[in-house]
Amino acid sequence: MGLFPATRLRRLRQHDWTRRLVQENALTANDLIWSVVITDQDTPEPIAAMPGVERLTLKGLAKAAREAQALGIPALAIFPHIDPAKKDEDGTEAVNRDGLIPNAIRTIKEAAPNLGVICDVALDPFTTHGHDGVLDGETIDNDATIERLIEQALVQAEAGCDVCAPSDMMDGRIGAIREALEFEGHYNTMILSYAAKYASGFYGPYREAIGSAAALKGDKKTYQMNPGNAAEALREVELDIAEGADMVMVKPGLPYLDIVRLLADNFDIPVFAFQVSGEYAMIEAAAANGWIDGERCMLESLLAFKRAGASGIVTYYAKRAAMALNG
Ligand code: PBG
Repeated sequence: MGLFPATRLRRLRQHDWTRRLVQENALTANDLIWSVVITDQDTPEPIAAMPGVERLTLKGLAKAAREAQALGIPALAIFPHIDPAKKDEDGTEAVNRDGLIPNAIRTIKEAAPNLGVICDVALDPFTTHGHDGVLDGETIDNDATIERLIEQALVQAEAGCDVCAPSDMMDGRIGAIREALEFEGHYNTMILSYAAKYASGFYGPYREAIGSAAALKGDKKTYQMNPGNAAEALREVELDIAEGADMVMVKPGLPYLDIVRLLADNFDIPVFAFQVSGEYAMIEAAAANGWIDGERCMLESLLAFKRAGASGIVTYYAKRAAMALNG
């Protein structure tokens, strides 16, 4: 042992310029997908558990789309709040060609033609029971649900959606949707599979946002993944790649960074992470109390996804983050 440390890692941390020069991972607006909630009502509505996020009207959505495009955010992911009167057991409204989602897709494409549009393929915003599929007694009927999801994805693709993002966790849905899209000529419509989607408590505020919280009977543990599992995520992604997925998603985000890293290390497919509603709510609640610096923690949490190997992040913070990053 010499008198001095052989290596002083602090040397490279001395200056702002050295820190910038050796930074391994960076976050830019290009990494962000903006998740937005939309309503079929005429006025925007606040979401109590997500301060700063509103359900946007189509007019508000057009404005958001223009802002996103100007900020260099590549894409919007849209989530509908449907009038409860339009919900039924089978989520019929999900396949309405003149429904909120197809209209929202057309609205975005008109307002910001260079912005990507990503749509959830799942029935929960449209069902009276709040589950992602159709019920057979108490259970979610996998194959009957897939029939509905195929129709839903086709309606989205026809309306001009760029990316269908099945978030339902039925077995075999990626292959079935891929085949249907090809068959109908939508061979350029991409599929972003929510491949590793966990049965999580962090979706709480979202269920309020889309109005499925009160409705939801039971939980989603028979189709979403067990939070205790990691190897199973490898199996999910392997299947989805074989079935034709273009990209995969891990959800929730921050509590599952190990899964993001695991998938990034094991597959060459782009991996995305969803910073979900509960993650947003936690940062906002702590910031509102003055317990953390909200802006700083937001950017730090988003950078963490890049460090874990994510290609990008779906986040309610996309606009705020892009504004901060663009200076
Ligand atoms: C369901 C869906 C969920 C979210 C997006 N799509 C929640 C759920 O599975 O109940 C959650 C998004 C969020 O919490 O921000 N298809």
